[in-house]
Amino acid sequence: MTQYKTHSCGELNISNKNENIILSGWVHKIRNKGKIIWIDLRDRYGITQIVIENGVCSEENFEIASSINREYVLRVEGIVQERENKNKNISTGEIEVLPIQIEILNKSETPPFTLEEETDGGPELLAKYRYLDLRRSYSQRDIILKNEVLKFVRKFLADKNFLDIETPNLVKSTPEGARDFIVPARQFEDQYYALPQSPQIFKQLLMMAGFDRYYQIAKCFRDEDLRSDRQPEFSQIDCELSFMNQGGIMNIFEEMIRELFKEVKKINLPNKFPMLTYEEAMLKYGSDKPDLRYGMEFSEATTMAKKSSFQDFIDAETVIGFVVKDFAKFSRKEIQNLEDYLQKENCDKKKIFTIKIDEEGEVHSSIAKFFSEENFRGFVNIFSYSKNDLIIILSGKRYETLESLGELRLKFCEKMSLEKEFAPLWVVDFPLFERDKNENRFVSKHHPFTMPKEEDLLFLEKNPEKVLAQSYDLVINGAEIGGGSIRICNEKIQKQVLNILGFSKERAEDSFGFLLEAIKYGAPPHGGIAFGIDRLCAVLEKKKTIRSFIAFPKNNSGRDVMMDAPGRILK
Ligand code: AMO
Repeated sequence: MTQYKTHSCGELNISNKNENIILSGWVHKIRNKGKIIWIDLRDRYGITQIVIENGVCSEENFEIASSINREYVLRVEGIVQERENKNKNISTGEIEVLPIQIEILNKSETPPFTLEEETDGGPELLAKYRYLDLRRSYSQRDIILKNEVLKFVRKFLADKNFLDIETPNLVKSTPEGARDFIVPARQFEDQYYALPQSPQIFKQLLMMAGFDRYYQIAKCFRDEDLRSDRQPEFSQIDCELSFMNQGGIMNIFEEMIRELFKEVKKINLPNKFPMLTYEEAMLKYGSDKPDLRYGMEFSEATTMAKKSSFQDFIDAETVIGFVVKDFAKFSRKEIQNLEDYLQKENCDKKKIFTIKIDEEGEVHSSIAKFFSEENFRGFVNIFSYSKNDLIIILSGKRYETLESLGELRLKFCEKMSLEKEFAPLWVVDFPLFERDKNENRFVSKHHPFTMPKEEDLLFLEKNPEKVLAQSYDLVINGAEIGGGSIRICNEKIQKQVLNILGFSKERAEDSFGFLLEAIKYGAPPHGGIAFGIDRLCAVLEKKKTIRSFIAFPKNNSGRDVMMDAPGRILK
């Protein structure tokens, strides 16, 4: 029986000198200088140099080595020797292997891109040959990081008594948020399963079943528009607990994330994550997932702005702005481009008003003429500026203006240097409902099972928009890493919320009857959270896209280019 290896390709060092060893792996690189051939043999653990010298090794070995191409699979039996030209950059750099026997285990066609160069091959080509892309060490690094994250999380949660429990993937379609992926049920004509958007209802039922601490690395399926941080199927660290209030839940998971960053990447996150309410986050940063690695907090100037004769300000609900350090970085053209961007993205044609402070501290702006001298000073002083700063101001309807200014802030952030490398925060007190922009109805900001704040229950009937939720999002560096809430465990409140969401009694019964029934049998107070694992990894690695953390991801239009799915069903 063949023994394929005694060591991995990343394992040998000078302490193995003169040992007889066996390695197996792929040919990463070949340098053929006629009389002498060097082969870099690669596996998941590293690269070892094999040196084949005519006259030193057998003729047969030299012949085999001369016929080898990139990505051939080899078994090499040989002796470890000290290298003359040492390579300090790799762990095996002090040694090389003199082969006694080289065996070709399998040949390879020339790959469509070179595996040793990160930049080679366009995204479509890399996706088509993902299994080759994954042979590259930098692709493997992301997959291995995800494994480290999951290993840590599983241990952390198991140590805290969480049980890993599976939930079904063929479920009933429930209107939760995104569109469902649908699976026809062969045995039931005209009936369909849906793939779960998350195990939300099941984990609540597990609490009702008495399993007081649950977690699962759960696959979720959502048919929604894709972005660099969204895949149609992705994994969550999905958790639920009974008899624990919001603060208690947030503490456990803040600890998990802090320890995870320390363990996996040696990053120290703050001892206590800051917390902003949704309202504060919108007012200060124009986003419910603010990137706090940068300053540029907003200052509201509506009252002073109304003292001008400027019609845009007089008509506006909100006039608000922020200060950008060192305006020399931003040309007039760049500001114009940002305005064009806003006009394209926003229906509420936004104009950017700027105030420049020169190196003498003199203030210059085309809007100064609409104010008395004193009022203009009062207006400008709302912003804490210094010399060479630029103040960016928007006006208009409140939330649209805040959101637009939030987008602008991020555009400016791209050009600023970081104030800190990692900035986690909790965002809490989200509204329970928001108005669907296209249809005139309420939709859940989180999901229909989220508990309103106790003190807001009285507004449920008459003024649902005023009701805040017992929900919380964990945001790091401007990315929503996780979100959760305390759940409704009261039949009356659950029915009322479904009613506000437009569910008739019959439809509520049809969609969620089993949950409404379960609540009647002694549901414990419970709540939970789910983290997007791929987003968590992307933040850890400071990457914009989550795709590299998924072994076989879909492209931007939801296709698997490698297997060419979706496809027709072959009869
Ligand atoms: P939510 O929908 O906020 O909550 O999802 C939780 C986290 O999952 C990640 N996420 C995604 N990651 C990649 N691609 C996607 N399409 C995608 N959608 C979401 C995000 C997000 O914060 N059942 C609730 C959780 C709960 O209440 O416990 C839920 O799924 O990081």
